[in-house]
Amino acid sequence: MSLPYAEPYKIKMVEKIYRSTRAEREKWIKKAYYNLFNLKSNQVYIDLLTDSGTGAMSDKQWSEMMIGDESYAGASSYYKMKNAIKDILGFDYFLPTHQGRAAENVLFSTIIKKGNIVPGNSHFDTTKGHIEFRKAKAIDCTIDEAFDTTKNHPFKGNLDLNKLEDVLKKYPREKIPLIIVTITNNSSGGQPVSMKNLREVKLLANKYAIPVFFDSARFAENAYFIKKREKGYENHTIKEIVKEMFSHASGMTMSSKKDAIVNMGGFIAMRSEKLFKEASVYNIMFEGYITYGGMSGRDMNALAQGLDEGTEFNVLEARIKQVEYLGNKLIEAGVPIQRPIGGHAIFIDAKRFLPQIKKEEYIAQTVAVELYIVGGIRGVEIGTILADRDPVSRKNRYPDLELVRLAIPRRTYTNSHMDYVAAVCKKIFDTRNEAKHGLKILEEAPIMRHFTVKLNKIK
Ligand code: F0G
Repeated sequence: MSLPYAEPYKIKMVEKIYRSTRAEREKWIKKAYYNLFNLKSNQVYIDLLTDSGTGAMSDKQWSEMMIGDESYAGASSYYKMKNAIKDILGFDYFLPTHQGRAAENVLFSTIIKKGNIVPGNSHFDTTKGHIEFRKAKAIDCTIDEAFDTTKNHPFKGNLDLNKLEDVLKKYPREKIPLIIVTITNNSSGGQPVSMKNLREVKLLANKYAIPVFFDSARFAENAYFIKKREKGYENHTIKEIVKEMFSHASGMTMSSKKDAIVNMGGFIAMRSEKLFKEASVYNIMFEGYITYGGMSGRDMNALAQGLDEGTEFNVLEARIKQVEYLGNKLIEAGVPIQRPIGGHAIFIDAKRFLPQIKKEEYIAQTVAVELYIVGGIRGVEIGTILADRDPVSRKNRYPDLELVRLAIPRRTYTNSHMDYVAAVCKKIFDTRNEAKHGLKILEEAPIMRHFTVKLNKIK
């Protein structure tokens, strides 16, 4: 008989969390205008808003924090990070930034111009925001299977090569500064991109002489899925797979708050010295001098250590098995979720959860608010509120999927917490027919409305 799986770590420090009552939560969420971003963290019992910057660092990362070099120029911490990026990812040049969107800001300031086209696989919202802010257009070329939550496809993050080639054919080369491949694809459900697809995208891009950049926040989880699901990679180490993945990219942007398991940090890495020099100007302007760019020396040290740990098979296995553990409990309870289970989060399919609610009443947000009221769980809406309005017509863009994302922070919660989350979801699902109405918007910002939107319940 094989022994059960257990985590390859033990806990050295704990943080108290408050278990509120339903009455308290009803009061708090009303005061927060039914926007979960407005809640104070101590009003939340299990915080699954994001897996970004919310992971637990290891003892080794904490010890690296103590020996950070805070020199303005040429800090040893910078060289630690440089070496980790070269050894693990294979890039010669890099610029530190304070987080992922800052990396996007610096890179896009360098290469994206008004009227440009940026194809990719469901660009993350900050990525799309930075593209549209420059009056350029992001075009989604993700495979159709990604938009059917019931379809089991091992690599739902893949780009559809026909869709991509249509875009590359339609516009002149100088209008397309880059193709962005997001690994794993957050917006389509934490779904991986296969090595085959990465290779084919690169070949196609070469044909049109367009650089490919990876938005790499969860690159290590992507490598884990390649090892588990793609033929020929079973016996490769994660680090070998990571190296091969990045060999298909000219550069990358990174939110280190995910797979490098730090609370803050990011970077751009690239092969071209010319691009490095051009981007350095913007990095100095927006972030900081090129050897710290928005990061403390101690954080660069923790990041270098985190890149190494985050690409260890055992660390990834524990992480992804926990996400699967929750996902399987929800499947058992009949709760409709995106299949297969993604890397960093469970995505509840809100349209199948509450089919009686009209799309104009923000179905996914309605489910997210219930999760909070019933169980003190904070997830996040990935639906109509996030998709925002069409920039021209200013009418709601109704996306194909209305999802509630339950993102699992790395090494932070135990499986008892996952049991609790599953029980809360089941309880709401079992009484779903009682829900008659969703929510209406009272106030919204011109862009990125999801952070500050004010809502009310429709009675
Ligand atoms: N790219 C992807 C795929 C992301 O998921 C994120 C952030 C970013 C870029 C931006 O990075 O936050 O460091 O500026 N995702 C977080 C999330 C916020 O909750 O999924 P950042």
